[in-house]
Amino acid sequence: MIQPYEIENNQLSIGGIKVSELVSEFGSPLYVYNESVIRDRYTTLVNAIPYPHKRLHYAMKANSNLRILKLFLEMGAYIDAVSLEEVRLALHAGFSPDKILFTGINLKNEELHWLVSQNIRVNIGSLHMLQKYASLFPGTEVSIRINPDFGGGHHSHVITGGRESKFGIFYSQEGNYNQIPQAKQIIERAHLKLVGIHAHIGSGILEEKKFIELISLILSIAKHFPDLEFVDFGGGFGIPYRPHEKPFQFDLFAEHLEKTMQKFTKEYGKEVIIAFEPGRFLVAEAGILLTTVTEIKHTPKYTFVGVDSGFNHLIRPMAYGSYHPILNAFRVQGEQKEVVIAGYLCESGDLFTRNEHGPEVRSITTPLEGDVLAILNAGAYGFAMSSNYNMRPRPAEVLITPEGPKLIRRRETFEDMIRFFV
Ligand SMILES: Cc1ncc(COP(=O)(O)O)c(C=O)c1O
Repeated sequence: MIQPYEIENNQLSIGGIKVSELVSEFGSPLYVYNESVIRDRYTTLVNAIPYPHKRLHYAMKANSNLRILKLFLEMGAYIDAVSLEEVRLALHAGFSPDKILFTGINLKNEELHWLVSQNIRVNIGSLHMLQKYASLFPGTEVSIRINPDFGGGHHSHVITGGRESKFGIFYSQEGNYNQIPQAKQIIERAHLKLVGIHAHIGSGILEEKKFIELISLILSIAKHFPDLEFVDFGGGFGIPYRPHEKPFQFDLFAEHLEKTMQKFTKEYGKEVIIAFEPGRFLVAEAGILLTTVTEIKHTPKYTFVGVDSGFNHLIRPMAYGSYHPILNAFRVQGEQKEVVIAGYLCESGDLFTRNEHGPEVRSITTPLEGDVLAILNAGAYGFAMSSNYNMRPRPAEVLITPEGPKLIRRRETFEDMIRFFV
């Protein structure tokens, strides 16, 4: 697989452009995405699914930059959207309504009305919402999201299956907490046509067996619904963040997928489309957050390296104790220092090197004031989860294209931040 960066003369480049040049042209902090890596991950995933009728719905919550959406449109992707505004942005990017599956929750009636008026397919994740949909739109098509009583993911906050999760119509093989018969009854009474069955069990999953289990389970439910056009196994394919983690082995899951789909098609009597909804896998490794060292300070315990960014730009270390590899872009190799890399926000938890308990020391080539640090694997749930906390503007975003670096979102200004006050 293509790497997002290169090292030349001990300096970091992204897509052939030196980090020092990127920062002098576009400023710091800066999000940089490598287009060729996004293309590579999309093709990898398409090729990894050994079934002809397949769709990849890009989970745009991972990174909703308009230019990146257009890139996915051009590559033939579909969209997974979870808010009306995501739907509007996808339509604005050029996706037709039939390429969008909506899986938002806690919807108001007017939101359901808007989605239906726009011909957006709604994927419903509770009996309550299914009943509401059935009363408002009898005789129409619908899709349901199942909670298969297990989940997966890199942190409890992102596990979306199982008994502690708020998502999906519950299905359990144990006890009598199986909501599928009630869902079937609601569907039949309102003459709804169930065209899709969906599950998304979590994010950052590196265990192939979770998908193997999920595919079998969803297909065993699917065979009881005769009108299906698609089954959707959600997103969640992980990427290795920590050095010991191994990439997701697509060949293991592909073998199972091929066999189970063949068996399912025979029993079901027709071919259905299979869909996945990857976000992280497609964009995480393509993105790098560049941030400049502004000060270095010591306590009896740690050396803190202060930078011009914080969890307002990349919240993953703060929210999940996530690990992101960090390189000194100006001297990738050399004498190492054990440091804690600290953001500029007024909050002690604002550290780029931390785990769930607190600071985590990292070895990095001696950082000096003015050096630029490259925080890797920041393309998914990075900018997308950013904020203006401490009245700090969001950084610019740049895409490295075959024609060179392109500014795809300008840096925010003070004026941008105050324009909502009335
Ligand atoms: C319904 C749904 N589909 C797909 C995804 C994408 O997950 P990931 O980025 O881990 O592939 C999410 C993310 O949480 C989701 O909620």
